[in-house]
Amino acid sequence: MELVTKISGITLRNPFMNASGVLSQTVSLLKRLQEAEVGAVVTKSITYEERKGYENPTFIKINCGYLNAMGLPNPGFREFLKELSLCRDEFKVPIIVSIAPSEPKQAREMATTFKNIASAIEINLSCPHSEKLGLEVFNDAKLTESIVKNVKDGFDKPVFCKLPPYRNEVLGIIDSLDNCDAFVVSNTIRAMKIDIKAKKPVLSNKFGGLSGKALHPISLALVFELYEKTKKPIIGVGGVESWEDAVEFFLAGASAVQVGSVLEKKGITIFKELVEGLEKYLKEERISLEELIGLAHDS
Ligand code: SIN
Repeated sequence: MELVTKISGITLRNPFMNASGVLSQTVSLLKRLQEAEVGAVVTKSITYEERKGYENPTFIKINCGYLNAMGLPNPGFREFLKELSLCRDEFKVPIIVSIAPSEPKQAREMATTFKNIASAIEINLSCPHSEKLGLEVFNDAKLTESIVKNVKDGFDKPVFCKLPPYRNEVLGIIDSLDNCDAFVVSNTIRAMKIDIKAKKPVLSNKFGGLSGKALHPISLALVFELYEKTKKPIIGVGGVESWEDAVEFFLAGASAVQVGSVLEKKGITIFKELVEGLEKYLKEERISLEELIGLAHDS
């Protein structure tokens, strides 16, 4: 079955990509992802200045998924651009550059800088634990709007907004994000774990983001609702561990799916599993991927 799909005019050989941050911190990791059967690669979120990230522990497994608070470690956009420019030609799949800006002018400068490298920009409006970044930006509607506008003005290809999983806040803002081309739904849920013997939070940052199994039905519900409220394409992300989880996202209305935490568990072979599982399902159901998208709304 044909798995080629389009998101805002970008052609993907299949609808699967990594979620920003997981196995995508360096260019060599992005190259490894490309060798697996991804439709596109998504970089770690890049900030204006270099960030060292938080102290360990930054990633832990808990009984309903994973908690992470890495602190958006990255070399800053200039350094990352240098690294990526050197091997741009080695990438045969679209590169989606994730940026985490905290103000409009810097956002525009970053977007412009990646003009010749990125097929799309994903704006991280949802990291749940970094000061003046991600969710803190999203919580200021005017700032968010201005950042999205500036990224659009500085970048002539598609711009995606990566949203948090909080329904009311998201539904309250999407009309003012009309400038962007697609939504990525969703980032992790702000969460924590406390060590009852040490009597203190386990993550060095105290708060982190919950991903994995527990996130899946929450993101799925938001994708479903957004599909009815917006005409923009949606990329579903949250707790996908199997092709069946991905099919749920397509049925809810996602045109593509990102996978994150499962890469820690199963490695990059998950992409082959997703591609083969989806192909088999479409064949058995005698349906195309295009027909599958949003089909759960017809019932
Ligand atoms: C991190 O780097 O701490 C996670 C980024 C995110 O949640 O967007």
